[in-house]
Amino acid sequence: ENQSATLLKQDYQAAQELYHHILMRTQLGETALNYLHQRQLTDATLEHFQIGFAPDQQQMLLSFFQVKQKETSELARSGLFTQTDEGKLLDRFRDRVIFPVQDQSGDVIAFSGRILQKPDPQRPVGKYLNSPETEIFNKSKTLFNLAAAKKEIRQQGEVILFEGFMDVISAYQAGVKNGVASMGTSLTEQQVYLLQRITQRLIICYDGDAPGLKAACRALELLQSTSLEVGVVILPQNQDPDEFIKSQGAQAFSQLVHHKSLSPEAFMIEYLSRQYNLNNDLEKVDYLNAALAYILPVQSPVQQELYVEQLAQHLNLPSSTIRQELQEQQKTKK
Ligand code: UTP
Ligand code: MN
Ligand code: MN
Ligand code: MN
Ligand code: MN
Repeated sequence: ENQSATLLKQDYQAAQELYHHILMRTQLGETALNYLHQRQLTDATLEHFQIGFAPDQQQMLLSFFQVKQKETSELARSGLFTQTDEGKLLDRFRDRVIFPVQDQSGDVIAFSGRILQKPDPQRPVGKYLNSPETEIFNKSKTLFNLAAAKKEIRQQGEVILFEGFMDVISAYQAGVKNGVASMGTSLTEQQVYLLQRITQRLIICYDGDAPGLKAACRALELLQSTSLEVGVVILPQNQDPDEFIKSQGAQAFSQLVHHKSLSPEAFMIEYLSRQYNLNNDLEKVDYLNAALAYILPVQSPVQQELYVEQLAQHLNLPSSTIRQELQEQQKTKK
């Protein structure tokens, strides 16, 4: 690893410690600490994830580094600051809760900062602000919590893939410690490669809303060409994992993840059923054909039969009719 990368990692480590200290021990962090407590995070959890707070000041972090006699060029390429047209450096993260993101060896390489308020649809300020890509941070090769969860993932032979920071953190607090997050963006091949090296089994646990289901569908496509065994959890009532844990409790969540995940085929039958108006006969046929495309390649007759029954229920038709249709399509395929 080169000198410059080492320096940037030191900067992120120092910034993380400062932000964490501000959150846990100072007046400046009080509102943010209240916010996180309100979201039911314990101090032990805040410690574990080294969560912090960047106060609403333009050059707090900058002065901190200037006292340490850091070179401006190094600070400029760190991604910790933005630069005005006149070349003045300003703290990038202001008035935001700071989630540190580590690389595979556990070194801090980026931050994501969350606003304390509910996102206002009128104002175009992102709920989460991420570090830009730098020589140490490549977003598509990074999974939140991978380094810390690695041991647990190996032991359980399984990783749980979430969308967001709060999902991983809430799950951890609920005792589910083998979670990582793709941080909102769609899963990449490089991320899958990282996971494949440490486990055989992956459970997708994305948000239960339409974007979450769609993202799960895309992730399944990517995972098809891998050797990973995949399960998918569908969260009820548009909830995300964090919200589910809050409303249903830790035990219900653990049950859901460990005993109620769907196979990729069962997920697709469910997902597709929500894409069609099943009160309309033409759409019913479209749904039938779309779903059968996933059932046709299934080798095991028992598995196939279970999917036929799942499909029959959605279509409100006798399963014998679906079975007949499947057999017809199997013939023409041969
Ligand atoms: P969500 O919109 O589902 O947010 O985005 P969340 O995780 O439930 O956040 P809370 O509970 O309101 O705090 C999922 C993930 O997408 C990324 C973040 O990693 C977030 O956790 N994201 C989301 C961004 O990077 N930027 C955004 O503006 C929003
Ligand atoms: Mn601490
Ligand atoms: Mn979401
Ligand atoms: Mn969410
Ligand atoms: Mn959430």
